[in-house]
Amino acid sequence: MSPRSTCHRRSWAAALAAVLILSACTSLKRLAYEGFGRDGWQKPDEVVAALALRAGDRVADLGSGGGYFTFRFSRAVGPAGKVYAVEVDSGMLDYVGARAKEEGYRNIETVSAKYDDPLLPESGVDLIFTSNVYHHIEGRVKYFADAAKYLRAGGRIAIVDFDGRHWTAIFGHTTPVELVRKEMEEAGYRLERELDFLDRQAFLVYSRP
Ligand SMILES: C[S@@+](CC[C@H](N)C(=O)[O-])C[C@H]1O[C@@H](n2cnc3c(N)ncnc32)[C@H](O)[C@@H]1O
Repeated sequence: MSPRSTCHRRSWAAALAAVLILSACTSLKRLAYEGFGRDGWQKPDEVVAALALRAGDRVADLGSGGGYFTFRFSRAVGPAGKVYAVEVDSGMLDYVGARAKEEGYRNIETVSAKYDDPLLPESGVDLIFTSNVYHHIEGRVKYFADAAKYLRAGGRIAIVDFDGRHWTAIFGHTTPVELVRKEMEEAGYRLERELDFLDRQAFLVYSRP
């Protein structure tokens, strides 16, 4: 065998290995985000119901991960609505995009965001929703103050984040609810509702005065 064809085979093997590792990474990340029995404590249907979305609404699922909420929002806003799955992780976006296509969720669009800007369309959204993402965002006061330009009139921001009540807080990835309140006020938002039916996460809904 010529050295050239050996080299060719090696690069194919390396490319295949890279694809396998990346897809394993995406699956592992999804498992880490969603765990086992998440519905029991996450109460996704109650969360979506509490947001009182209307048919035709436009929703940004900021830090959509494996789309745990994205697909539920898609059903809630219906075919006239739109759901933007917004992510900085291209593997997760590819997964959500492929599943949306395969299962016929035509109102889902993936958005490759920047860490400091969700890069939503200028036409804006009615709701920016984040679940277990708030603690990942750096410079949150500026981030959310800037994000106001993506909200349509009457638009809201909903934040669901681990607040330290549960034993899993030993792994970090939490934000004290007082800090969320302080930062969102500094970013120029008014607290509209604070829901207390989740046992380990704060759930706050903001609007723009
Ligand atoms: C713990 S996962 C939560 C996924 C999903 N929201 C859920 O509840 O299952 C956090 C996600 O936020 C994404 N993320 C972190 N910082 C981000 C940023 N600045 N903009 C958009 N996504 C971000 C990560 O890539 C990751 O997929």
